[in-house]
This record gives sequence, structure tokens and C-alpha cells, in this order.
Amino acid sequence: MRSDEALSWSGLFQLATPVTSAPMFFVDGYFLLQTSTFPDLPRRALVTGASRGIGRAIAHALARSGYDVALISRSLDSLQPVQEELAACGVVAKAYAVDLAHTEGLQGRIAEVLADFGSLSVVVNNAGMGYTGAIATTPLADWQRVIDLNLTSVFQCIQAVLPTLRAGGGGTIVNISSVAAKSAFPDWGAYSVSKAALVALSRVLAVEERSHGIRVVTVSPGAVNTPIWDTDTVQADFDRSSMLSPEVVAQTVLHTILLPSQAVIEDLTLMPAGGAL
Ligand SMILES: NC(=O)c1ccc[n+]([C@@H]2O[C@H](COP(=O)([O-])OP(=O)(O)OC[C@H]3O[C@@H](n4cnc5c(N)ncnc54)[C@H](OP(=O)(O)O)[C@@H]3O)[C@@H](O)[C@H]2O)c1
Repeated sequence: MRSDEALSWSGLFQLATPVTSAPMFFVDGYFLLQTSTFPDLPRRALVTGASRGIGRAIAHALARSGYDVALISRSLDSLQPVQEELAACGVVAKAYAVDLAHTEGLQGRIAEVLADFGSLSVVVNNAGMGYTGAIATTPLADWQRVIDLNLTSVFQCIQAVLPTLRAGGGGTIVNISSVAAKSAFPDWGAYSVSKAALVALSRVLAVEERSHGIRVVTVSPGAVNTPIWDTDTVQADFDRSSMLSPEVVAQTVLHTILLPSQAVIEDLTLMPAGGAL
């Protein structure tokens, strides 16, 4: 969107909503209402899988709305450019190398991250892997690898962050699932199961943690144009230009986080307008 278009849309929005006194801001081509989301909570977030793709875009969107961000992936080298980009936004960004697929001891490792980074009000469980293979021939070790990273690591991260979120008075946990949790695509069995189970985990967590002021959001995107499609566990030949951009997914995630504390988007599916590829 050009800046002159942006201004005119801003004017239209304000005309259409004369009762709001909330200031608006412009991020990644979108206008957002600056709401009083959890006004007493610190603008501090943790994002897993923040070195590229959707996680990197989410980290950027959070930083541009004033969040300090703890960044997790397997390698500090891959996180360093993201850390520098976020610091240029004027927020604190710290990078932590954690292999989330090593679920043994993971809770303790995340607790160490929190001990260093400090308080939090937002956790985005984004890290994950794609995997294609027919159920009939998927090796048990591959199945376990997908479940470990896409599901069990999220379970462990959640257990690690809950004491901090509860002690701080609440917050928002966003789990990145997939449309594959809800629709059947041949050759995506292990992946679909991991993401469907993540939806179930989120649902139960939401009702368990509500009394602690913790909102749980599941965002399930359709195909997004990220490096996941180039990884060696994914064999697929889709038209990348028809996919969602990571920035659009990030903007959607940010919207769920910035909602006023009395509202929650529990389960959101975001598809390319052309549908599933
Ligand atoms: N792209 C899509 O079409 C799509 C659609 C729906 C849902 N999703 C979901 O969205 C999430 C992000 O996907 P993406 O497309 O952005 O993937 P991506 O481009 O492959 O990025 C994955 C991120 O996760 C990190 N990561 C991978 N394995 C890790 C491990 N063992 N420990 C710690 N970090 C690890 C990677 O960093 P390092 O390699 O540096 O560790 C990277 O930052 C995933 O959960 C995916 O299932 C993606």
C-alpha cells in the first residue's frame, strides 16, 4: 500500500469509528488499533523458530509494536541478523540457541532462557518442521521426530513458561498449527497429526489457564512462502507465488496478541485467498 493510500484509509477508518479514542499505528501495510491489551503487563515476548520464515516475521512485527523479544532457534549465527534488525527498532532482542527437538531436559533449558531474559507476557510457539511421506511407509523414527518438535517441544515450552506468565498476572500464548490439522492432504500424515494434536493441546490449555489471565490462541495457516518448502524433509512442488507471505501471518498473529484482554481469538485459520494449494 502506498503511503498516500495508507493515509486515506486511515482517515476512512477513523471516520467510520468516531467513538474510539485509541491511537492507531501502521505496521507492515496494516493499520492496528493500539489497544490497552493487558496494560499492566510488560511488552516482552518469546518467539521460537525466530531465525527465518514465519517466526522471524512475527519477531519483527512484535518489535515494531514495542515488544522486547527473546529469539530461539538452533543456531546463534542464524539468529544474529534478526537480533540486529530488532535492536534497530529500539527494543531489546536476545538470541538463544536451543534445539527444541531434544525434548529431554528442554523444560530446564527454557527455564534458563527465562531466568536470563526476565519477565514475559507473550509466548509464540512457532518452531516446527514440515514432513511429507505416506503413512504406510513413514519410518517410526521420522514419525517420532515430527511429533517431538511440532508437539512435544511445545508442551515442554508451555510447562516452562506458565509459572512466569502466572506470576506476572497473565499473558498470551500463541501456538502455530496448520490447516493440515483440519483438512486431509495425502503424504502429510505425521505432520497433520502433530498439528491436530497441537490444536487439542491449545484448547485444553485455554480452559485450564483462563483463571490465571492467560489467553491461548491457535493460528493455523495454509501454505506460506517460507524456507520450509526447501527443507529436505518436504517434497512438494507448489506455486510459491500463490502462498501467503510470512508478514501477513505475522500481522494476523500480532492482531490476536493486541486484542483487548477481555477478548480472545481462540482458533484462527488463515488461508491464501485462492484456497489450499
Ligand atoms: N510455511 C508454511 O506453509 C506453513 C503453513 C502452516 C504452518 N506452518 C508452521 O509454521 C511454523 C513456522 O514454519 P516456517 O514455514 O516459518 O518454517 P521455516 O522457514 O522452516 O522456519 C522454521 C524455524 O524453526 C526453527 N527450527 C527448526 N527446527 C528447530 C529445532 N529443532 N529447534 C529450534 N528451532 C528450530 C528454524 O531455525 P533453525 O533452523 O535456525 O534452528 C526456523 O527459525 C512451523 O510450525 C510450521 O509447521 C508453516
